[in-house]
Amino acid sequence: MKAFGYEKNGGSEVFQEYDVPVPEITSNQVLIRTQAFNLNNFEALQRAGKFKPTDHRIIPGRDVAGIAEQVGSDVKGIKIGDRVVAHGHHSYAEYAMGDDTNTVTIPDSVSFAQAAGIVTPGLAGYKGVHLFGNVQPGQTVVVKGASGGVGSIAAQVALSIGAKVIGVGSSRNEEYVKSLGITDYVAYDQQDPAKALANTADVVIDAALNGIGSENDAEIVKNGGIIASVADGDPDTDKDVHFNHIHPTQQITDLQALKAMIELMAQGKLSIKIAKQLPFTLAGVVKGHQILESKHDGRVIVAK
Ligand SMILES: NC(=O)c1ccc[n+]([C@@H]2O[C@H](COP(=O)([O-])OP(=O)(O)OC[C@H]3O[C@@H](n4cnc5c(N)ncnc54)[C@H](OP(=O)(O)O)[C@@H]3O)[C@@H](O)[C@H]2O)c1
Repeated sequence: MKAFGYEKNGGSEVFQEYDVPVPEITSNQVLIRTQAFNLNNFEALQRAGKFKPTDHRIIPGRDVAGIAEQVGSDVKGIKIGDRVVAHGHHSYAEYAMGDDTNTVTIPDSVSFAQAAGIVTPGLAGYKGVHLFGNVQPGQTVVVKGASGGVGSIAAQVALSIGAKVIGVGSSRNEEYVKSLGITDYVAYDQQDPAKALANTADVVIDAALNGIGSENDAEIVKNGGIIASVADGDPDTDKDVHFNHIHPTQQITDLQALKAMIELMAQGKLSIKIAKQLPFTLAGVVKGHQILESKHDGRVIVAK
């Protein structure tokens, strides 16, 4: 099968196309015939060697949507031919693997590109709202980075459970965020969110890039409220504030989160902005990684 990967770190040009064996699945895995995969910033950093140097061939990718080609004997609820999405493994390839703990079916009304696009940012956004932010109906939730991958999902998920959501992002993206049904918006390049939203939020979900401006979250949250943030480090404040760092966890499982998000997508209550959909070719993958490393709004997807 065709797969895209690299053997040495560097720029996007290190990607090569390989002809590799179709992966063999275990009894609790699903072999997925890839229709779309999502490119994540993590994969660009990994390719560039920001973590540990590569000493072997890497076929990257976690976020994949496609058709179940083989289904392990212990997998329940998925049959051959089903449309599925997974937080899988080695998804930059014609066939990828999903586990029964991270693969769910998708209805015809949800496109492969949309499904693949929500996986990694969605797991953070969904768990950010339901676990780390413990958002309840009727609460006021300020979502910083509401125009971004994680934040736009968090904002829509919070809205879907009946929270009042105030989005924070750039003025450039105000119209987009409002198109998601979020009526209240503070443009960080026009007003200081800490002043405009002082003591407003029962919960602050901070999904701004690298947690920029997170030192001001404590001003936005009410006394007794919660800050759930992609940034590390407790805020320096006299207020009684609970701080939770948003991190990978199975306290809410990937399966639960993916199922819930696909259901919201099917109901038209959750969508993800796609910056660019690229062809399923080496050139598509190289271009995709170039886009990841430049300023862009939305997900970068490679699709058949
Ligand atoms: N993607 C994931 O799966 C994932 C998972 C866990 C954690 N994270 C972390 O979560 C953060 C967001 O990731 P993402 O993928 O959602 O990124 P993204 O799509 O690039 O979104 C970044 C967001 O930050 C906003 N922003 C940029 N500069 C800002 C500033 N000066 N003040 C306030 N907001 C600002 C952006 O607003 P404008 O674009 O409107 O300027 C945008 O809403 C990153 O630090 C990432 O490492 C990501």
